[in-house]
Amino acid sequence: FDGSNSEFLKGVVAMDGLPAGDRIEVCFAGRSNVGKSTLINALTNRSRLARASNTPGRTQEINFFTLTESHYLVDLPGYGYANAPLAVVEKWQRLLKRYLSGRANLRRAFVLIDTRHGIKDVDEEIMSLMDSSALTFQVVMTKADKVKEKDREKTFKQVREKLSKHPAAFPEIVLTSSEKGDGIATLRSIIAGLE
Ligand code: GTP
Ligand code: MG
Repeated sequence: FDGSNSEFLKGVVAMDGLPAGDRIEVCFAGRSNVGKSTLINALTNRSRLARASNTPGRTQEINFFTLTESHYLVDLPGYGYANAPLAVVEKWQRLLKRYLSGRANLRRAFVLIDTRHGIKDVDEEIMSLMDSSALTFQVVMTKADKVKEKDREKTFKQVREKLSKHPAAFPEIVLTSSEKGDGIATLRSIIAGLE
């Protein structure tokens, strides 16, 4: 796919708003500001399909995009945003948990990790949730352009170590830069290969 047929389908704030699960679905999870919306834009070759922003917590709904006739892309609200009101955070968390554990056509979750920061405790919480839902997740490192190649190995080592403790983790880690385009083709072919 090249993304040219991608469209925003809908934003969902409650489970009863989910679109029919009639296509293969992949979702993008990660801390606020890690680059989920930007990555969706890069994957679809569209600069403004998903709303990206410098303001953490920009994406507050579960946003569904059509990718191909047989795939949905899902942009999840970011977690770990300290300034959001607690009631709001709890509402997102409940929705996120229900979505991640109860969506039959969800084939894989991509958990985005900032190459500068590695895996944090909030990421581990989501990964554990995916373990208990038997939802295969794959780590996608973002913003690779912000870290020199020689400094990446330390983060990779930390990520590999942490992933080894998660039964639902897919072993291959994808390094991306939405800015430079690194890893985008790889990620496209991973998504296209899911059945
Ligand atoms: P929330 O919706 O708040 O959860 O954030 P998000 O994960 O969707 O992040 P978003 O895509 O809005 O990106 C946050 C910021 O990071 C924006 O200013 C992007 O331009 C920047 N950014 C995202 N990906 C990259 C990348 O690969 N390289 C660089 N240099 N900047 C990036
Ligand atoms: Mg976003």
